[in-house]
Amino acid sequence: MADDGYVLVTGGAGYIGSHTVLELLNAGYKVVVVDNLVNSSEEAIRRVEQLAGNVHVPFFNTDIRDYDGLDKIFTQYKVSAVLHFAGLKAVGESVQKPLEYHDNNVAGTITLLKVMRAHGSNVFVFSSSATVYGDATRFENMIPIPEECPTDPTSPYGHTKLIIEEILRDVAGSNDAQIKVGILRYFNPIGAHPSGRIGEDPRGIPNNLLPFVAQVAVGRREKLQVFGNDYDSRDGTPIRDYIHVVDLAKGHLAAVKKLNSITQPAFSREWNLGTGNGSTVFEIVHAFEKATNKPIPVEVVGRRKGDVVNLTAKPSRANTELDWHAQLTIDDSCRDLWKWATANPWGYGEQPDK
Ligand code: NAD
Ligand code: WQD
Repeated sequence: MADDGYVLVTGGAGYIGSHTVLELLNAGYKVVVVDNLVNSSEEAIRRVEQLAGNVHVPFFNTDIRDYDGLDKIFTQYKVSAVLHFAGLKAVGESVQKPLEYHDNNVAGTITLLKVMRAHGSNVFVFSSSATVYGDATRFENMIPIPEECPTDPTSPYGHTKLIIEEILRDVAGSNDAQIKVGILRYFNPIGAHPSGRIGEDPRGIPNNLLPFVAQVAVGRREKLQVFGNDYDSRDGTPIRDYIHVVDLAKGHLAAVKKLNSITQPAFSREWNLGTGNGSTVFEIVHAFEKATNKPIPVEVVGRRKGDVVNLTAKPSRANTELDWHAQLTIDDSCRDLWKWATANPWGYGEQPDK
């Protein structure tokens, strides 16, 4: 349960952040959201407020690189914990714009940590990614991937995640800020809230599999391009550990609870948030077809640069130490995504030039 402070959620208007804000409110936490809306809409916060029973969520359209802006918010609200989702996340774009990614993600996190230090706020949960592992099949016996797997990200986006992890371990290990840190390495988040009111609303052409499939199903796109069927897997397509976004959101509450219970000052820990089960691209497409009763036209094309054959989590550390388990299935995710996509075929926005 909550103590008397606020949980400050950066990136709280985004896909995973909005689902986590809702879970926090449902569990009785007081929440304040900071988001510059570069990849999201304030409408997500309005809907979260409704879903939580018309609870008011203070929202600030502030960039995390803005020290003074953050400082004002930390002065106004006693922040007992920070959940840090804000960041740019498109792998391909990060190759084109590495400086923007390092500035936004790394410099933004440093600014946030400085403000936390100034206000004595000492619980920090970071949205890291399985992308920090790179290709875990370069080792024997590293699938499913444990947290001890050596890291080797392959994109500027992945580098920002690993650099931030290193900064956090340094900060947690010093007497300077005395911040307790939870590093959550997400595998592949999918699905939407079962209400169909909040979900993922990517700008432009979706990079990720499920949002693309959903846009094919609602008629926004003609077909799915499958990036290679010549991998060493049961049907030739790559394997990922797809996790329902509501399970993922609940993992953050488990991490906050754990960090609140830690009495030692210098603490940091990495936890994989995944299910431990891998699915191929074709298995996901078939699950979505089953959930929607709609055929998804596919075309197999060449491999996408940077893709690896298998990213499946070993989630046992989070299972044991956080007392958290993913509970929802791929079928649940497809059902909930479909509900969101049919109720909101244009996401939070309106159909352009009807
Ligand atoms: P998202 O883009 O929906 O959410 C990120 C939010 O951060 C957006 O609302 C955006 O407007 C905001 N933001 C970005 N830069 C900001 C800045 N400088 N100041 C303030 N707000 C800013 O993405 P998401 O899928 O919800 O991802 C949340 C976090 O989880 C990200 O850090 C992402 O890297 C990480 N992550 C995501 C995935 C995934 O597949 N979705 C997987 C692993 C890790
Ligand atoms: C999944 C599978 C594709 C789209 C990315 C980031 C990672 C993390 C999660 C943030 C792959 C295939 C996809 C399409 C396809 N994000 N695919 N056609 O690449 O596992 O991970 O999101 O941290 O960092 O890299 O997810 O959804 O893009 O792809 O065939 O149009 O679907 O080849 O096998 P990925 P994804």
